Amino acid sequence: MELLFDKYLEEWGDCKGRAWCGTCHIQILKGTLSSKMLRDEKQTLCRLEVASPQSRLACQIPVNAELHNLVFKIITDNDFG
Ligand code: FES
Repeated sequence: MELLFDKYLEEWGDCKGRAWCGTCHIQILKGTLSSKMLRDEKQTLCRLEVASPQSRLACQIPVNAELHNLVFKIITDNDFG
């Protein structure tokens, strides 16, 4: 998440990466992640209107080699229309 935050979205991270706010919502378009969702991430995604089975919170995704081929979309307020 910090990689994206520094470069793209300063409004991210209201909860400072604790999986509580949902401002770092992304949807995985291509690729998979082996890291499982923990309870807080699941609960926060359940509260988001546009969450889908491909949704994740960027703050909960570890930075590792899996990200190399991952394609994802950053979900913003404009996606609520
Ligand atoms: S920064 Fe708040 S849920 Fe990711």
